[in-house]
Amino acid sequence: MNIEEVLSKYEPKRENILLILHELQNSKPNQFLSREDIESVAKYLNLPSSKVYETATFYGLFSTKPRGKYIIRVCVSTPCHVEGAEKVLKTLEEALGIKVGDTTEDGLFTLEEVSCLGICGVAPAMMVNEEAFGNLTPERAIEIINSFKEKEEER
Ligand code: FES
Repeated sequence: MNIEEVLSKYEPKRENILLILHELQNSKPNQFLSREDIESVAKYLNLPSSKVYETATFYGLFSTKPRGKYIIRVCVSTPCHVEGAEKVLKTLEEALGIKVGDTTEDGLFTLEEVSCLGICGVAPAMMVNEEAFGNLTPERAIEIINSFKEKEEER
């Protein structure tokens, strides 16, 4: 879906900005909002580009730089933190060879820290794209990542 197709689904009203940015980002293989996207949304909503950029950088869900096919979001809020989220995060950094905020060279994984995913009952938790995983241990996190790698190799 191109920018025009996404925009045409929404009325050009300011209150639609988050829905538009969300759908636009999800419609792209690299799951990010480019400068061109920001400018198009600004023009469509009749807002300054700086306002749209500010919105896109305020929310952790949006990215203004290209990301991997699989976005790993590890929750680091207190309930997950006390259950070992830090260890999970460190293990993922080592296994993927990247730091939080970075994307692997093959473009497959981006690692991010987020606040509460709303599944604190199974802390520590993370999401890979839209899929949630709880009761994580470092070993389990590696298994999950490997299962995504295997899926890719089967393609
Ligand atoms: S604190 Fe981690 S999911 Fe709520």
